[in-house]
Amino acid sequence: MAEKARIAVLISGAGTNMAALVYASRIGDCAYDVVLVASNDPEAPGLKLAAAEGIATFALPHKGMTREAHDAAMEAAVREADAEYIVLAGYMRILSDAFVQRWQGQMLNIHPSLLPLYKGLDTHARALTAGDSHAGTSVHLVTPELDAGEVLAQVRVPIVTGDTPESLASRVKLAEHQLYPRAVAEYVGRWRDPSALLARLREHALALPETDERESHGSPGFRVGGEKTGKYFAYFADQHHGTPHIALLARTGSMDELLNLVETQPEVYFKPAYYGASGWVGIILNRPGVDWDEIATWLQRSWRSAAPKRLTRLLDIADTF
Ligand code: GAR
Repeated sequence: MAEKARIAVLISGAGTNMAALVYASRIGDCAYDVVLVASNDPEAPGLKLAAAEGIATFALPHKGMTREAHDAAMEAAVREADAEYIVLAGYMRILSDAFVQRWQGQMLNIHPSLLPLYKGLDTHARALTAGDSHAGTSVHLVTPELDAGEVLAQVRVPIVTGDTPESLASRVKLAEHQLYPRAVAEYVGRWRDPSALLARLREHALALPETDERESHGSPGFRVGGEKTGKYFAYFADQHHGTPHIALLARTGSMDELLNLVETQPEVYFKPAYYGASGWVGIILNRPGVDWDEIATWLQRSWRSAAPKRLTRLLDIADTF
């Protein structure tokens, strides 16, 4: 069984979504484990439940602390628990930009509306006042702008005659309890799914000029320079030669550079069989928190060292300025 992703859940209140996440993680081969439940309110009922379930807990009231200091303490607890993702479940604090940026792509939230409708508070009252036929809930990535990150999943919940904000909220929560565990499992599971990783790599590789894709020894490969004379600049290697890695193979500048990368960051780089001997490095993709900008940079670099002069000449000129 593949290793599970480690998630920390942050709550402020009842923690019913946290409970749904915990119980879903105990059923079958769920892609994540809840390794920490943390709160800004030591009285949050969810903390007791988490403790009873044998999950580490952490609580720190925010009163009297700056936002940055409180965020830093929460983040320290998350790191201490060795969590790779932060999952906000009714965590009613605005987070500082720097904190959010450090966890970009690794922090999720659930919001009780059909985003982009009704960001912020009082979502149910606003949906009722507007006369909407449906309310709902959205799971989204957290970005510095409030409730504005990419929406990963949504469920619609009909509004019925006589609904109050409270009656609607409790029905929306039923939907949330189904949606959140699934959306979290699907999202954190992506980093170990070869077809999702290949799709993402392909998108970046084929965005570079004059590239095409051609299989080489059973692996997808990416070439530059045209049908006839094209040269490979990248390969996608799915657990080759007994490694557990799903990886991008890219050209480095020298064997020294390759060995240095492997020695200093073995969690990211490795020396692949065969290709390693000619200076290709393996960059591991099936790990949490892959920085895809960095992957894109590796692709560009590798593309450049394989591309014909007529394509790189302009870039070389630009570099001299
Ligand atoms: C949930 O409905 C969640 O969507 C909402 O708080 C509730 C928490 O309930 N979150 C927000 O409003 C975030 N802006 P819970 O503590 O029972 O999970």
